[in-house]
Amino acid sequence: MHTVPLTLHLNHRAVSLEVAPSSLLIDVLREQCQLTGTHQGCDTAQCGACTVLVNDQAIKSCNRLAMQCDKQSVLTIEGVAPNDHALHVMQQCFSQHHALQCGFCTPGFVMRALAMVHEDVPATPDAVREALSGNLCRCTGYEGIVHAVCEGLTLLRVQA
Ligand code: FES
Ligand code: FES
Repeated sequence: MHTVPLTLHLNHRAVSLEVAPSSLLIDVLREQCQLTGTHQGCDTAQCGACTVLVNDQAIKSCNRLAMQCDKQSVLTIEGVAPNDHALHVMQQCFSQHHALQCGFCTPGFVMRALAMVHEDVPATPDAVREALSGNLCRCTGYEGIVHAVCEGLTLLRVQA
């Protein structure tokens, strides 16, 4: 198989890989980097379960060639917590507001929410619902997710 070199700044570390030019970012993350917290929930780029940050912007990794991210900063759910024994503030908010049930969609929602910290998304339910419109959850009914993101945005902007 023809491969090309790919360098990522992945979860705060430099990583060098060899990938097929047609490899999707989600497949490289899951299969070559064993970062299986990034989930594939559809094949139509609609569910958002595969959301990661590239240069602090939320993207759907099922819809992005890995090579498009060469020499870019990529953050997945595995790189979010400050250490192995603590949750990120946004993850704490998801826990406190019961914003997950099966958890399949949760990494994508958390990554989308973290990108919103740097966007002009007000920490209000209506604005958060609109900003989360590219992420689907089949379990929770969204109320807890919206409350969690509103609180997380408020707390993280105060800390910034
Ligand atoms: S797996 Fe990427 S949007 Fe569904
Ligand atoms: S918690 Fe199950 S799909 Fe969202």
